[in-house]
Amino acid sequence: MKENKNYNRRSFIETASLVTAGFYVMPVISSCNSVPSSALPKVETTVNSDFNADVDIQLKAVQSSTKILYTKNTYTYSYKGSLIKGNKQTLQQLEGSALDPIIRVKKGDRVRIRFENEIAEKSIIHWHGLHVSHKNDGHPEHVIDKGETYIYEFEVMNRAGTYWFHPHPHGRTGEQVYKGLAGLFIVTDEEEKALNLPTGDYDIPVVIQDKTFDESNQLVYLSNGRMDQMRGFLGNQILINGKMDNTLSLNKDGKYQLRLLNGSNSRAYKLAWNTKEPMTVFGVDGGLLEGPKTLPYLILAPAQRVDVWLDLSKKSESEELKLIHLPIPLDNMMGGGMMGGGMMRNNSDHSLPYNSQFDILNIHVGVSRKNDAQLPDRLSVSQALDAANAVNRTSPRTFNFGMEGMMQWTINGRTYKGNEVVDDEIVKLNTTEVWRINNGGKISTANQNNGSGMMGNNRGMGNMMQMPHPVHIHQLQFNVVNRNSENVDRNLWNAVKDGFINEGWQDSVYLLSGMYMDLVMRFEDFKGLFLYHCHNLEHEDMGMMRNFKIE
Ligand code: C2O
Ligand code: CU
Ligand code: CU
Repeated sequence: MKENKNYNRRSFIETASLVTAGFYVMPVISSCNSVPSSALPKVETTVNSDFNADVDIQLKAVQSSTKILYTKNTYTYSYKGSLIKGNKQTLQQLEGSALDPIIRVKKGDRVRIRFENEIAEKSIIHWHGLHVSHKNDGHPEHVIDKGETYIYEFEVMNRAGTYWFHPHPHGRTGEQVYKGLAGLFIVTDEEEKALNLPTGDYDIPVVIQDKTFDESNQLVYLSNGRMDQMRGFLGNQILINGKMDNTLSLNKDGKYQLRLLNGSNSRAYKLAWNTKEPMTVFGVDGGLLEGPKTLPYLILAPAQRVDVWLDLSKKSESEELKLIHLPIPLDNMMGGGMMGGGMMRNNSDHSLPYNSQFDILNIHVGVSRKNDAQLPDRLSVSQALDAANAVNRTSPRTFNFGMEGMMQWTINGRTYKGNEVVDDEIVKLNTTEVWRINNGGKISTANQNNGSGMMGNNRGMGNMMQMPHPVHIHQLQFNVVNRNSENVDRNLWNAVKDGFINEGWQDSVYLLSGMYMDLVMRFEDFKGLFLYHCHNLEHEDMGMMRNFKIE
C-alpha cells in the first residue's frame, strides 16, 4: 500500500497507436537515399476512438527561423502546438521563442498528442518524467520520418510538478534539442491546488540553456567534432526560455514560483542569488517536497527541475536581483590530464568556463502588486519508498557509468543497441529495487570496480578518464537513498556539496566523478522496455544509454 502512492492508482487507460499501416515497412523505404524524404506519402492519421481524450493536442516539429539575436534570424527547430480539445490554458505560448508551447494538464487527464514530424530527419517525442507505457514513452524504436504522425494516448498519472518533453531519436537527440525542440509539461493536482502557491503571472517558467552562435547568428554545434562530443556541448551564451533577453520584470511584493529547468545539452549550473540570500526550493523533478528547503546555492544538472520560491516583499522598487552561476572547478576536472587541459578545453574553445561566474537571470523589481500566494511549511506528505523493502536491498543492482577503451562512454561497459537488453537489466513488475549508479566511486564494502584501471577507484589513470554524468531513468520517479562522495576530488566536492537535494521524487541526478548513489524505485503498472541513460545529450547520442525491461 505504502509503496504505490506516487501515481494515481484508481484507473487509467493507456494506448498508443502507430497511425500508419505502413509504418513497419517505412524504414526500408526511407533508408533508400534516392527517395527524398519529402516524397514520402503523408501518413493517414487514425486515433483510437475508445480513448476519450480530455486534452487533445496537435504538436508539429517544424523547421523555423527565430529572432534570437538582434539582426539576422537564426534557423531553429520548434514545436508548434494547436489545441483540438481542452481548456484554453492547456497551451501556454512563449512569445517569440523556439521553446513554445508549454503544455499544462491536470493529474488524471486523458491526453492525446498527435505528433507530426515536419523536420527533414527522424524524430519522436519523449515525455521526460512521466509515468507512461513503452509506446507512449518516445522510445527511439518509434521514430517517425518527415510527413508521418505518431499518436500518443495516455492518462497523466504523475503528481503535480514540472516535467518536460523533447525528442529522443537515437544519435540525434542532442542536436534536435539544441536547435529548439524542448518544452515544459506542467502538471497540477488537487494536493497542489489546496496550497495556494503562486499561479498565473506569478508562476514563471525559466528554461536555462547554453548556446553558441556564429557571425551570421546561426547555431554552432560540436564544431570540434569528436572532442566536443566526448565532453558534451558547452556554449558561450546563456539563453532563458530560448531568448537572449534574460531580464524578467516582476512586481515588488509579489510572491513567485520560478520553475527552473536545466534544458542544456551537457552543462550543469551552480545557481545562487547575487545578494547571497539563500535559495528556497520547494519542488524537484517529481513535484513538491515535504517542506521547503533552503540552500546557499543549488546544483542543477541537465534535465533537472526545481521550483524556487521568490518573495519580493522586502525588495524596493527598481531594485535588481540576479540569479548567477558560481564557479565550479570542473574545467579541468575531467581529469586535469588528457581530458582536462589538453583534450577537453583547447584554444579554440570559447565556451563559458565552468570555473567562472556569469549571469543567468536578471530580475527587475517593478511597482508593487501583491498576490496572496504563500509557501506553507508543510507541502506534501512524505511517501518516499523505503529501501528496506527492496527485493535487492542487500545487493543493489549496480550500473557503472564510465569510459570503455579510450573514446567510448558506456554503462557497465555497454552502449545502446536498439532494443537490446541483457539479464542484469531485467526487473519485475510490482517490485521495489535499489539501483547503485557508480561513476568510479569508492564502494568500501565490496571490491567492485577494482579490475579496471580505467574506471577503478585508484586516483591515477582512472580518474583521468572520468567526468560527471547526469543520470536519468525513464518511466518512474525514484528517491535518493544516499550519495557517496568519498572518492570525489575534495576541491570539487567542497565547491558543490551544499547544493544537492536528496529529498523528494526525482528522475535525474548529477553523478560526479568518484561518486556513487543508491536510488530506490518501484516498477509499476507497465511492462516493457524503458531507457536509462546519461542526460549529457552528447554522451547519450554516442550510446551512453541502455534499456531496462520490466516484466
Ligand atoms: Cu530527457 Cu531519455 O530523456
Ligand atoms: Cu526521460
Ligand atoms: Cu555522461
